[in-house]
This record gives sequence, structure tokens and C-alpha cells, in this order.
Amino acid sequence: MRARPTRLDRLPEQYFTALLARVGAAAAQDGEPLVDLGRGNPDIGPPPHVAEALCAAARRSDTHGYAPFAGLRVLKEAIAERYRDVYGVMVDPEHEVAVLPGSKTGLMEFAQVCVERGETIVLPDPGYPDYRSAVALAAAQHSPLPLLPDGRPDWDAAPHEAAALYLNYPSNPVAACAPEGVFEEAIAWAERAGAWVMHDFAYGDLVFDGRRPASFLAVDGAREIGFELFSMSKSYGMAGWRLGFAIGNAEIVARIEDLQNHQFAGIFAAVQEAGAAALTGPQDSVEARRALYEARRDRAVAALAGHDARGEGTFFVWFRLPDGVTCEQLLEERRVAVAPGEGFGEQGRGWARLSLATADEKLDLGLERLNGL
Ligand SMILES: Cc1ncc(COP(=O)(O)O)c(C=O)c1O
Repeated sequence: MRARPTRLDRLPEQYFTALLARVGAAAAQDGEPLVDLGRGNPDIGPPPHVAEALCAAARRSDTHGYAPFAGLRVLKEAIAERYRDVYGVMVDPEHEVAVLPGSKTGLMEFAQVCVERGETIVLPDPGYPDYRSAVALAAAQHSPLPLLPDGRPDWDAAPHEAAALYLNYPSNPVAACAPEGVFEEAIAWAERAGAWVMHDFAYGDLVFDGRRPASFLAVDGAREIGFELFSMSKSYGMAGWRLGFAIGNAEIVARIEDLQNHQFAGIFAAVQEAGAAALTGPQDSVEARRALYEARRDRAVAALAGHDARGEGTFFVWFRLPDGVTCEQLLEERRVAVAPGEGFGEQGRGWARLSLATADEKLDLGLERLNGL
């Protein structure tokens, strides 16, 4: 029997799965060991007190049943405290915070709860490839919003009507921090277009050169029209733990919690308690991580001088490939994997993303191999 087509057929190839497979195949070939600077997987985990909080909670008998579907109050309060103390934003932990199994889940859920079949979702180009998966899973359509060289959207190219806008600063892959006034511009556009806004703040704490983390919610009108995703993966090196938050508009938060009540059954309480310990305990590891990536950024940008290399934040450097050079060639001839720019959107063609989330010796070896590009 022929299978009926479904919206799953619309899914693009999963960019990172395909990249990993390609890099894995190249690594298996004869030659120098490959240096993988393609993948953005934090190379340093959370500070010891977080793992200890997890173990202590897991040793108790009261953490093993279903956790409250909407998340532990203590965790919601911990993220609200962080927003107050670090980003200068007051949020109501009960109505303006949803606990997520990773922020990736939230960017999929946004399209599910705010967009109808066939409606338009506006995505930054270049942008995080999974946004396009969210469009496909919602059976929506996508309108690319080109980013200018400073990372600001070219609003003249935005459609006049849309259901949703995805934004991301510091940006993966272009490593730009939020340009001055960009959130105000986004709100003004979204009000005209009738769109909800999601700001992906996954790399929020990883900003360099003395910049301060800039939350979308600090801007007037933001929580009336949208919300922000915060991730424990990047600030604390907890990518494998799968813990994140949707923070902001109470109606969107309620819709996300409702969807999660149907689709999931909460997150292991020990993970949630340890997440709260990470957010409320000593924060020196966040600064140490930021400084480490900044130092790596400096070395990468110096090694890629002449290639328009950028890295204001995140743990990536975005650089222009010389004419006629492809990432495939770098993989085959120099045994270095970087992520091809076109996978992030048409505007990324001719560019590549290099990951700093790798041990110093490996990064330096990779940079050496890119020397003279
Ligand atoms: C821009 C961006 N948003 C969201 C995510 C998802 O992060 P997580 O699901 O680990 O919170 C990532 C992960 O790499 C990312 O790069």
C-alpha cells in the first residue's frame, strides 16, 4: 500500500545529522586524523556543584515519579531570578515561564502553537537550520529574511504579513550580537505584519569584547508580542541534559505548557533541581566559559585574517571562503571540517562556520591547517 504523504515529507535533510555523517565518512578515510570544527557541541560541562545536585536529588526517593508537567516551581523561580539579576527583566515565574526539554523543543513548539497550516514564518537567512524544520512540521511556509553584514535583518525584504518571526542574537551561524535597536525594529515590523516573535537567546551569555547580554524582553512591547528561549546548553555546558525555557508572553507560555501536557510528561525532577542549582549557585563558570570562547575567538579571527571573519558572540566564527574554495575541499585536502554556509540559507553561500567548542590543541591544529587559505 502506498503511504499517504504527510507533513514529515516536507522536512529538509537534518543539516547536522548529514554533516556528522559526511565528517564521519571523511574521518574513516586514510590520511591525517581529521580535525572537526564543524559541530557546535560544548566541550566543557557544568561546574561540579551542578552534577552533585543532580546526584543528591537522584538519591532521594521522591524525585523518581512523574514531575509536575509544567515544571518545578523552584526552577521557574530560579530563571526568573536570573532574568531579574542578569538581564534586568522582571518575569512572573508562574505565568511567564515554561520549562522545556531543551530550547530546540521550544522553537518547534512555537510554530505548533502560533502558526496555522499554510501561514508564513519569517526566518533569518543565514539562520539556524532547525527553524526550517519547525516550518515544515507546522505545514507552514517560510520567508527568508536576509541579514545585513552587521547581522541586522534587511526589513525591506520582509513580507507585509506573516504569522511568526524567528530572531536569534547572538546569532548562529553569523556570530553577531543584537545590533542597536534591532528588537524595537522587530516589534514594529511584527505589529504591522500581525506576527508573533520568538527570540532565540540560546547563546545569550556568550558575548565578547565587554558587551552585555541583551534580552529581547528588556525592550518595551516585547512580552506583548513574543517570548524568548533560554538554554542551559551553552551558558552552563549542559547540552546533553536537555533543559531550557520559554520566557515572556503569557498566552504563548500557556499554549506551550498545554501542548507539553499532551505531548510530554515533565522532565526528571533531579535534572530540574540541578538546573535550579546551576542558575542560583556561583556563576563564575559562566564568566570563565565566556572568557575561554573569547580567547579562542581571538585566535580563530587572527588565523582567518583576510576572510572577513566575525565573532561578536556564540562559540562560532563565521568567515568567507576564498572564491572557488569549498568546505568539501577543506575536508578532503586539509582534513578540517567546518560547516558549509549554504546549509544556513542562501545568503550563507560562499561562507563557512567554524566551531570554537573544541579543545584548544585541536582548535589550534585546525587553524594551522587553514593557514594560507
Ligand atoms: C541557535 C540555536 N538555538 C537553539 C539551539 C538548541 O539548543 P538546546 O536545545 O540545546 O537548548 C541551538 C543548538 O545548537 C542553537 O544553535
